[in-house]
Amino acid sequence: MESAYHEVKAVADLANEPPEYREAICKIVASHAVNELYGAQVFDEPAIAHAPTPYAKWLTCRIAMEEYHHHVRFKGLADELGIPPAATDPKVKRPLSIFGFQLKSWPEFCVIKMLADLAEILQVEDLLTCSFLPLRAIGRLTMPEEKFHAQFGKKFCEELCETEEGRREVQAAIDAYAQYLPQFFGAAGSKNNESYRKYGLKVRKNEEMREDFLNRARHVVESLGLRFPPLASAGG
Ligand SMILES: [Fe+2]
Ligand SMILES: [Fe+2]
Repeated sequence: MESAYHEVKAVADLANEPPEYREAICKIVASHAVNELYGAQVFDEPAIAHAPTPYAKWLTCRIAMEEYHHHVRFKGLADELGIPPAATDPKVKRPLSIFGFQLKSWPEFCVIKMLADLAEILQVEDLLTCSFLPLRAIGRLTMPEEKFHAQFGKKFCEELCETEEGRREVQAAIDAYAQYLPQFFGAAGSKNNESYRKYGLKVRKNEEMREDFLNRARHVVESLGLRFPPLASAGG
């Protein structure tokens, strides 16, 4: 899909754009920089210790490396944009509530990759056509890796589901973690999102993205012969 706004090729070209355009870019870039870093710190790096085999550990190391690299990419652009370091520091800027879940086990990590990285894929999908080309370029580099993370999660969930105990653990992790997912897409009728769409930085409304995600997440979970739980909150 073509962007709703003209293409802006480089950071230097922002001088010719309205201040709100730069502000919108900075919010998106800072949010990705914070959340990629925090996710790597609280989920991916600790998951290396939970991984049950050398093969699983190797793949989990690779995922942790890629998530830190996603942060490094967004942080590089944040620095170019002159975003203050505090705005991309998870100790200062609060990360998304999706990371509030306390990771305790390998099955939980597999479920997080299967579902949270699918949510991230939806976010990155909109970056692929975004009007600010440096951000579009990061989206294109990041997308294949996020797809790999989500496939990794699904594949290891499938493997766990081969035993009755594993199946119970995966279902319990889905039941617990799914509750964190709807908020990931932000509030319905969001002002930020309205400006992102106006400037061709996002394609979809938060509520459209959430609905699309919940359908896709349900489909993945049911393809494993598991149940997608009723959600306490539809996230607005
Ligand atoms: Fe990532
Ligand atoms: Fe990822």
